[in-house]
Amino acid sequence: MFAQANWVCLLLAALLIAIPASGTRYQANWESLDARPLPTWYDEAKFGIFVHWGVFSVPGFESEWFWWHWQGQNPPDPKCVKYMLDNYPPGFSYPDFAPQFHAQFFDPDDWADIFEASGAKYVVLTAKHHEGFTTWPSSYSWNWNSVDTGPHRDLVGDLAEAVRNRSLHYGLYNSLYEWFNPLYLADKKNNFTTQDFVLKKLLPELYDMVLSYKPELIWSDGDWEAPDTYWNSTEFLAWLYNDSPVKDVIVTNDRWGAGCYCKHGGYYNCADKYTPGELPKHKWEKCQSVDTQSWGYRRTMRLSELMDLPSIVQDLVQTVAMGGNYLLNVGPTPDGMIPPVFEERLRGIGAWLEVNGEAIYSSKPWRLQTENATVPVWYTSKYSSVFAVFMTKPTVYTFHLSEPITAESTTVSGVEPIAAESTTVSGVEPITAESTTVTLLGNLEPLRWAPLHPRGLIILLPELPPTPAQAWILKLDGVK
Ligand SMILES: *[C@@H]1O[C@H](CO)[C@@H](O)[C@H](O)[C@H]1NC(C)=O
Ligand SMILES: *[C@@H]1O[C@H](CO)[C@@H](O)[C@H](O)[C@H]1NC(C)=O
Ligand SMILES: *[C@@H]1O[C@H](CO)[C@@H](O)[C@H](O)[C@H]1NC(C)=O
Ligand SMILES: *[C@@H]1O[C@H](CO)[C@@H](O)[C@H](O)[C@H]1NC(C)=O
Repeated sequence: MFAQANWVCLLLAALLIAIPASGTRYQANWESLDARPLPTWYDEAKFGIFVHWGVFSVPGFESEWFWWHWQGQNPPDPKCVKYMLDNYPPGFSYPDFAPQFHAQFFDPDDWADIFEASGAKYVVLTAKHHEGFTTWPSSYSWNWNSVDTGPHRDLVGDLAEAVRNRSLHYGLYNSLYEWFNPLYLADKKNNFTTQDFVLKKLLPELYDMVLSYKPELIWSDGDWEAPDTYWNSTEFLAWLYNDSPVKDVIVTNDRWGAGCYCKHGGYYNCADKYTPGELPKHKWEKCQSVDTQSWGYRRTMRLSELMDLPSIVQDLVQTVAMGGNYLLNVGPTPDGMIPPVFEERLRGIGAWLEVNGEAIYSSKPWRLQTENATVPVWYTSKYSSVFAVFMTKPTVYTFHLSEPITAESTTVSGVEPIAAESTTVSGVEPITAESTTVTLLGNLEPLRWAPLHPRGLIILLPELPPTPAQAWILKLDGVK
């Protein structure tokens, strides 16, 4: 009996070894890596929060590119030079900002509460921006990380715990290049024929980051000066997809070497704030910042430079209608606060998603993305429902959609076609049918509507509930 049980166990073990759990091993080339299906959580999530936080938050001037604009580019940005002359003693260097990165009010639970309240399903924090400072205790970034200096705290780890506690997915942004790293500059000088920076700094650190924090998303950046072969990107990704502890859940973007973006990797970011004109064939993400001038915190930001809630929701809707995810950025202060104006935007999105999230989360693009009807409309779909989102309050109660095909559009006789231009309901008797229903999300009453021929329908809108986001959604069931 025991002998037999052992034998069965052995046989099972042998079978398990013979058949790799995922079935496929990826090769270190783009053809193989690009064929990996994206883990499903990502497309379902639709909305994430991007957080740019680092030493650049301390000067909080111009943008997170401050160091480069001040001392990297030639000629330097005169505004940055003047800012330093006016406010800091001579000889003050960029690394001198690090001890002022106190993060003394950083409460990861507070942040995670705000992110959760925004309706976002994932959070991406800068683990290392182009300045090279790691917001975690990287042993490859000695004295230039958030535990050796500044906050004396593992920011990546502390936020990970709070974010995961709320069942949000956690991702890390990592810049491949580092503006002023001597190893990188030496490789660059050699036209990237040497890889000292990659082999001694970048890769060991990246492996360590994955093993330490098990991110579910790596938002790679800073790749464009050198080819993917310099960065060893395909070797790293093959490890990530085959053998890392996150191999089944990890999602990556497309910034893995000059010429890669919009072409290779996991989902596509393409350029920052990319907005495609038509439905892309590949899963993509739009990253956008509430502060339109910067990803990092800016002490001089003005209200007029910030996206307001309606424009954010509009951007989110248009992105999702086009099959994208929306990654919205906020830049916290060096003392660890999310500026209340950002928090207000985030909570506003969440309040809107509370009512309208059905049309966003896990939705798919519809066969048509947008049409100009009574007002411009953006479509999403889920299972057999079609959602029509509009962000302009119509001046009439009759709402015309020209594209959805109701059962009655083509089959019911005896219903007079309604002129699309009709602006009042008088003389029009909207009918409801069992096979097609129209509701306004947040409103239980089905709406009255009438078919148009050969397609389209006219819907009798109720008084629209006021919403600070200024976006309303019609749910159509039983349309094609
Ligand atoms: C979050 O933390 C609380 C309190 O520590 C714990 O009870 C709860 O199970 C955690 N939730 C998750 C999803 O980890
Ligand atoms: C790098 O390329 C440039 C331009 O092609 C060339 O002038 C230079 O000699 C090269 N440097 C090295 C170290 O190969
Ligand atoms: C980097 O890539 C080369 C081949 O391009 C490979 O021989 C080497 O092992 C890789 N190194 C790492 C650390 O991935
Ligand atoms: C709708 O109208 C806007 C503004 O006139 C225009 O830019 C857009 O291309 C139109 N969309 C469609 C689908 O016709």
